[in-house]
Amino acid sequence: MGNRGLPCYFSLLLLLFAPLSCSQSQQSCDSSDLNALQGFVEGLQSSDLGWSFNGRSSSPDCCTWVGISCDVGSVLVKRVIGLDLSDKSLKGSVSSSLGGLDQLKQLNLSNNSFNGSVPVELFRLPHLELLDLSMNMLSGLIPAESNLPSIRLFNISANSFSGTHPILAGSSNLSVYDVSFNSFFGPVDTGICNSSGSIQLLQFSANMFSGDFPAGFGNCSSLTELSLSKTGLTGTLPDDLFTLSSLSLLNLKGNTLSGIVSTNIRNLSNLVHIDISLNNFSGVIPDVFDSLSELEYFAAFSNKLTGGLPPSLSNCSTLALLILRNNSLTGTIDLNFTALPRLNALNLASNFFSGRIPPDLPNCTQMMTLGLAMNNLVGEIPSSFKNFTSLYYLSLSGNNFSNLFSALQILQNLPNLRNLILNTNFRGGESMPTQGIQGFANMEVLIIENCALSGSIPPWLANLTNLKVMDISWNHLTGTIPLWLGNLDNLFYLDISNNSLTGEIPTSLALMKSLMYSNSSQESVASQYYPFVILRNSSGRSLEYKQYSSFPPSIILSNNKLVGSILPGFNGLVNLHVLDLSFNDISGTIPDLSDMSNLESLDLSNNHLTGAIPSSLSRLHFLSSFSVAYNNLSGKIPTGGQFNTLNDPSIYTGNYYLCGPPTKNNCSDEEPNPYPKRDDNNGTHETIWLYLGMGSGFATGFWGVYVVFLFRRSWRIAYFRMTDKLFDDIYVMVVLSWRRLNGKIGGQRPIS
Ligand SMILES: *[C@@H]1O[C@H](CO)[C@@H](O)[C@H](O)[C@H]1NC(C)=O
Ligand SMILES: *[C@@H]1O[C@H](CO)[C@@H](O)[C@H](O)[C@H]1NC(C)=O
Ligand SMILES: *[C@@H]1O[C@H](CO)[C@@H](O)[C@H](O)[C@H]1NC(C)=O
Ligand SMILES: *[C@@H]1O[C@H](CO)[C@@H](O)[C@H](O)[C@H]1NC(C)=O
Ligand SMILES: *[C@@H]1O[C@H](CO)[C@@H](O)[C@H](O)[C@H]1NC(C)=O
Ligand SMILES: *[C@@H]1O[C@H](CO)[C@@H](O)[C@H](O)[C@H]1NC(C)=O
Ligand SMILES: *[C@@H]1O[C@H](CO)[C@@H](O)[C@H](O)[C@H]1NC(C)=O
Ligand SMILES: *[C@@H]1O[C@H](CO)[C@@H](O)[C@H](O)[C@H]1NC(C)=O
Ligand SMILES: *[C@@H]1O[C@H](CO)[C@@H](O)[C@H](O)[C@H]1NC(C)=O
Ligand SMILES: *[C@@H]1O[C@H](CO)[C@@H](O)[C@H](O)[C@H]1NC(C)=O
Ligand SMILES: *[C@@H]1O[C@H](CO)[C@@H](O)[C@H](O)[C@H]1NC(C)=O
Ligand SMILES: *[C@@H]1O[C@H](CO)[C@@H](O)[C@H](O)[C@H]1NC(C)=O
Repeated sequence: MGNRGLPCYFSLLLLLFAPLSCSQSQQSCDSSDLNALQGFVEGLQSSDLGWSFNGRSSSPDCCTWVGISCDVGSVLVKRVIGLDLSDKSLKGSVSSSLGGLDQLKQLNLSNNSFNGSVPVELFRLPHLELLDLSMNMLSGLIPAESNLPSIRLFNISANSFSGTHPILAGSSNLSVYDVSFNSFFGPVDTGICNSSGSIQLLQFSANMFSGDFPAGFGNCSSLTELSLSKTGLTGTLPDDLFTLSSLSLLNLKGNTLSGIVSTNIRNLSNLVHIDISLNNFSGVIPDVFDSLSELEYFAAFSNKLTGGLPPSLSNCSTLALLILRNNSLTGTIDLNFTALPRLNALNLASNFFSGRIPPDLPNCTQMMTLGLAMNNLVGEIPSSFKNFTSLYYLSLSGNNFSNLFSALQILQNLPNLRNLILNTNFRGGESMPTQGIQGFANMEVLIIENCALSGSIPPWLANLTNLKVMDISWNHLTGTIPLWLGNLDNLFYLDISNNSLTGEIPTSLALMKSLMYSNSSQESVASQYYPFVILRNSSGRSLEYKQYSSFPPSIILSNNKLVGSILPGFNGLVNLHVLDLSFNDISGTIPDLSDMSNLESLDLSNNHLTGAIPSSLSRLHFLSSFSVAYNNLSGKIPTGGQFNTLNDPSIYTGNYYLCGPPTKNNCSDEEPNPYPKRDDNNGTHETIWLYLGMGSGFATGFWGVYVVFLFRRSWRIAYFRMTDKLFDDIYVMVVLSWRRLNGKIGGQRPIS
């Protein structure tokens, strides 16, 4: 970057005084710097930096090398003052010889694969102002004797450093400090604030600290951002925290902090972003928001907060996000939403709010996500919601709303509404509206489950061609399953269980496009604060899905009055994960389903199935939940493959003529078999094939299953609800492992 020209220019000036030619006076880099760089390269496992040390006649000009910047040292030498080798895929250790670059001001090794510990020499560079070691695999302790008097920016985030976090005593110009995503333990030491009045940003998140929230941050009087999320801190917030009048971001999410939220928070008048979610804070939310005139982001979900919404929130005209879900808040929702024009995300779910939905909510013309689920709200959806054109996600589940017909009429023409979750409402004996609804053209997720609705599967659903998730289970719907249901090309999660549906399963359900091919549907809006909660009224269990793309591709028809046989065409649904036909009146034999390579859960229990369990099912490597209980099945329970793990007798119970382990019946030849196999040839053929496959296939097959199963178990947790508190952590973990594993094992696992 112009380093070449500058020395020559200086040399030309020198020409006035000395008879030197430009070429002869070519400045080279200092030999001690050169040695240091050579030592550094020796620590690398592979070097494609293109640095060439082999200049014989004259020493090479390292200042022209990639990543290096220099400053004029003396007439003849330049000194290395900057080394930026970020994003270079470098591997190996950070050599102590870097300590020889004693004029170094900037060192950036971010986003490489350096491992091992960092030599103490690096922490003693007297002129170093910027040190960025983030995103490597460095470990070990930061030397206690470190001395970086000039440091301004210190970023060692996303490594595996341990021990106590560095204090950088005597670094009076320190401004930005980031030790997040490491394995530091012990207390958070606010001694870092003793010497530096210029610290602006402290980032401690995602470490393994312990102990109470320390006093002392008050000494960091210029602090604008303080992040301590997921650091393991306990105790209450000390008073001096509330003297940081420059603070604009405070992130304390995911600790075990308790006590009340002090009214002194009003002194933090520059706060823009505050997140105290996932802690044990209690008491009322202080009514001080008129003092927080910059506030845009206030998240306090999953605490033990009580009382009502502080009225002063209405004075917070800058507010864009308000997330208070999963607390114990009471009272009505009577903010002046007309005064909150920038609000675009509001979630008050899982509290004890009562009263009606405020009709002026649609005056928040930027509102995209609105969650009021699981409160004690009553009444109808206000007609003003016809104007709520910005709305993308609406969850009202688990309240006492009435008049589903009116609700659907009001909402049907909202152009952006894609997620509508209404379950567990309208329970006063309403029926599923079949006429008068034409809209919802963009709807992707529709959940009207557990509303005690009578009527049938409504025909207007046929026009919802973008629908991906449909759940109208736990109602009293009658009639048959319409053929068009299988023609909704994007539908991959269909739950119409626990109704009183009759007739046969339409063949179209075996031809559902999004279940025949694996299409990785993308989530269009991050729904971090809007998990889908589906209540189950049978056992009180509920499922929580973080986002709809984590719904497992499913067809759930259980507990109806369906007749006929299992469609052999289901075998073509290679992307289906869950097939539940239990508690119906289905008869006939179990067809070959061995091509359903993603199937994890197959429940055929409590029907009238006959014949044998096809041994080909042992090829369903992901099948971890299986039941054929209470049918009229007969013959030997298959062995091998996945059946080695499906050995819980309750899977097979209630089938008098099934034999072999894990049942207690012996498969003696003499035993009468009232349901002989139709095609014996095919049967033995298959068995032989299986045995042949054992030798080579089993070893690799086992590993494939084992590796993927380990991972899939954690993935499954994503949709089988954990406690709300755990949820966000698990989500992060799961998303990471999805990504990681998906990268590693290539196209093996399609994501839906
Ligand atoms: C280090 O380099 C990365 C990648 O070029 C850059 O994003 C980052 O800002 C740099 N660090 C500092 C402190 O400038
Ligand atoms: C890290 O560096 C690689 C190239 O080595 C680049 O592809 C990747 O985008 C970088 N990651 C980040 C977060 O900058
Ligand atoms: C660094 O990683 C290499 C493998 O890439 C390994 O051989 C070496 O032992 C590691 N060094 C340390 C100190 O962990
Ligand atoms: C530290 O580095 C990480 C990774 O490069 C980056 O995401 C983060 O923003 C940096 N921290 C600060 C405070 O700049
Ligand atoms: C701190 O910064 C000031 C102003 O940039 C500078 O004059 C001073 O030399 C720096 N102190 C140290 C120890 O680097
Ligand atoms: C910071 O000041 C406190 C109180 O005087 C003292 O106990 C602590 O040792 C100091 N820490 C550092 C790193 O100077
Ligand atoms: C603030 O720093 C001073 C020393 O600079 C120290 O005496 C004092 O105890 C510190 N305050 C806290 C709360 O640690
Ligand atoms: C908050 O500010 C007021 C004056 O605005 C002051 O009297 C009070 O001491 C401050 N509280 C704290 C904890 O700093
Ligand atoms: C609500 O806020 C709007 C806009 O700030 C204001 O005009 C209106 O008077 C307020 N309504 C009430 C009831 O305070
Ligand atoms: C919505 O805002 C408009 C204009 O600010 C106002 O006239 C109207 O009264 C508001 N609606 C409600 C329900 O407050
Ligand atoms: C919708 O908004 C228009 C103008 O913005 C207003 O005239 C109308 O009354 C509103 N409708 C409802 C149902 O609030
Ligand atoms: C589906 O949409 C078409 C065109 O918009 C309309 O004519 C038809 O009546 C709709 N069908 C149902 C069942 O609502």
